[in-house]
Amino acid sequence: MTILAIESSCDDSSAAVIIDGKLHSNIVASQAIHQKWGGVVPELASRAHQQHIVPVVAEALATAKITKSDLNAIAFTRGPGLLGSLLVGTSFAKALALGLNIPLIDVHHMQAHVLAHFIDEPKPQFPFLCLTVSGGHTQIVFVRSALDMEIIGETQDDAVGEAFDKTAKLLNLPYPGGPLIDKYAKEGNPLRFEFPTVEMQGLNYSFSGIKTAFLYFLQKETAKNPNFVEENIKDICASMQHTLIKILLQKLKKAAKQYKIKDIAIAGGVSANSGLRAELQRLGDELGWNVYIPQFQYCTDNAGMIAMAAHFKAEKGEFCGQDVSPMPRMEW
Ligand code: KG4
Ligand code: ZN
Repeated sequence: MTILAIESSCDDSSAAVIIDGKLHSNIVASQAIHQKWGGVVPELASRAHQQHIVPVVAEALATAKITKSDLNAIAFTRGPGLLGSLLVGTSFAKALALGLNIPLIDVHHMQAHVLAHFIDEPKPQFPFLCLTVSGGHTQIVFVRSALDMEIIGETQDDAVGEAFDKTAKLLNLPYPGGPLIDKYAKEGNPLRFEFPTVEMQGLNYSFSGIKTAFLYFLQKETAKNPNFVEENIKDICASMQHTLIKILLQKLKKAAKQYKIKDIAIAGGVSANSGLRAELQRLGDELGWNVYIPQFQYCTDNAGMIAMAAHFKAEKGEFCGQDVSPMPRMEW
């Protein structure tokens, strides 16, 4: 079974080829155009996807050393994501599948983030818990099998990726700020500044309060010293990152205890954060967990994970028709 997968939910245009469950290519074209606006501009993202999609698909096929006629199915991200961006990938996938007279496979972007763990060894054992953390989502997912997942806790407001990006914006760092906070945090003191956190019910999260607290903190400190940010950027980033990681892991620990599960994974763009990766590994060693951390290239948006999810769907014969349309708020 040879599947071409397309990812276009946000600001990365990506295509991948998977053959019998093994990934043969994974090409990602990022969109630098958003940087000067300090965030993703949906209309610019759609146009950039239109420019990238043909060369990205061609490169994915060439890298996998196959041609269009070798394909048995076309997979695409149906949602959640930006409507205009999703439309580009969906329309392209539909047209190609129609032209080649082969079936389509619609993929849920967040489920694909979880299934990125099956691209390489070691693969998690079912059931496992996956902390799925991206620019739009923060969820603890109970994964019974590849196609049977349940959200057992999630953010009630902002996503943790947003908290990283908004913190960076307040510090005048370019978008996306998460990786830069990570970079500065490596050399800073995580215990220098304290930020207030709120206790949410059950396994849920909230990140909007800390964002406001951070804004007030900066206003207060820069009123006293206009050079406060420049002089303390490393400690500010380290302290904020430390607080966000602490919030994430507290609930994950609670979930593992409640569900009596010791196989624990992380996924999504924020799982690229080196502090989170190290702290999860440390906690896992302490609690006897089997910890699964994806390779960097499978953390942020990529079509490799869409291809992996499509492989599982194809195995179960789960295809969709030409009448499919994108779903910006796709449910699980
Ligand atoms: O999964 P993803 O690529 O796109 C969405 O589906 O949202 O996640 C993007 C998010 C952004 O908020 C970005 O700042 C964050 O992942 N991110 C990071 C790091 N790398 C990416 N956050 C913290 N540390 C990183 N190293
Ligand atoms: Zn994503």
